[in-house]
Amino acid sequence: MKRIIEPKQKVSGQITPPGDKSISHRSVMAGALAEGTTRVKGFLMGADCLATVDCFSRLGVEIEANGDFVKVRGRGLYGLKEYGGVLYTVNSGTTTRILSGILCGQNFPSVIDGDESIRRRPMRRIIEPLRLMNAWISAREDNFCPLHINSSRLKGIDYALPVASAQLKSCLLFAGLYADGHTVVREAAKSRDHTELMLKEFGADIEVFEGGAAIRPSKLAPADVEVPGDISSASYFIVLALLADEGELLIKNVGVNPTRTGIIDALKEMGGDIELFNHRMLGREPACDIHVRPSRLKGVIIEGDIIPRLIDEIPILSVAAARAEGKMVIKGAGELKFKETNRIKAIAEQLGKCGAKFIETDDGIIIEGEESLKGAAYNSLGDHRIAMSAAVAAAVAEGPSEIEGAECVDVSYPGFFEDLERALD
Ligand code: S3P
Repeated sequence: MKRIIEPKQKVSGQITPPGDKSISHRSVMAGALAEGTTRVKGFLMGADCLATVDCFSRLGVEIEANGDFVKVRGRGLYGLKEYGGVLYTVNSGTTTRILSGILCGQNFPSVIDGDESIRRRPMRRIIEPLRLMNAWISAREDNFCPLHINSSRLKGIDYALPVASAQLKSCLLFAGLYADGHTVVREAAKSRDHTELMLKEFGADIEVFEGGAAIRPSKLAPADVEVPGDISSASYFIVLALLADEGELLIKNVGVNPTRTGIIDALKEMGGDIELFNHRMLGREPACDIHVRPSRLKGVIIEGDIIPRLIDEIPILSVAAARAEGKMVIKGAGELKFKETNRIKAIAEQLGKCGAKFIETDDGIIIEGEESLKGAAYNSLGDHRIAMSAAVAAAVAEGPSEIEGAECVDVSYPGFFEDLERALD
């Protein structure tokens, strides 16, 4: 589907982003393994999370959805049922990787596969540690989907993550629920910790320490989960409001877990007028409202520990950088190559089209800011975050733009274009 976007330079009103994608996935996963009914409010009805719902339904878990309210009738750690067919995770890396960890602990075989993008994403990062746990798992070229899993008795390991990946960490922590002894996962730079918080909430025997977490087999009790709005989805509107010429925007109910707020820190350092207020806790997850005003941004250097805290926001941060004064350097972000697309290439293609100057590097990008961006003919490349970043660049450009393949925003933000229209005056 092609979307035409006419630029408008003024923002106004308020936006409430949909539920957090990472937390929504985990609420169904933990809920499915708990003994009793879990109730989730604010669940993200995006294609990725619906893939998780679909897989657990096929594994025998009754899941009822009514709007963004979801009830999961948990079957306990050993209550999942064998599914004879292929568990299809569509475009969702989180479903593919965490589900693999859970299925390695079951006493039945499974097959997992996804779409073309999933079939290109590396799975060796989960296969190697799962095998150290004594899992039986095989993959195409020992690295790619489809994944074949057979039952085996898992044992705990003490593992230092070679990449900062919450999907990998979470895969091993969920597998640890089934392993003899302790499973210890260590990380050099802290990635999002929603799994640790969620499993704790569900009563798991999990301990978080500086540099990692340790889990022991433990029953899960059901919980009531309230999912905050997704900061990754909010970030498109934060950048939109910063780059607008006039107006202001209120973004309500945004999850601000410190492992996810790198984008706020980066945009503030660039000079963004962003105010966080009305702080509250939704269970173990912090949330707040955010007020944003148009600002003159300057380029900064983004590297090191902040990278996992804003990894999904680098496409939209690059749009902000394209309109900032001076040079923006993003480095140490080689993981971008293994997302839904090779996002270093996808960002470079996007920046080239709107007339920004940049140098693509092996682990990031250097962007020279411009006074104004041109309208352009974008292609989402089937990547939701590339589509939404293009839409923001288009909304603040000098002329009309089009985005081919815009429908992929449904993966994480089904109402994105409606909200974009609402925010632009
Ligand atoms: C996610 C972890 C990150 C992120 C993805 C969601 C999660 O991936 O990019 O969108 O829910 O655990 P990696 O674990 O590959 O870094």
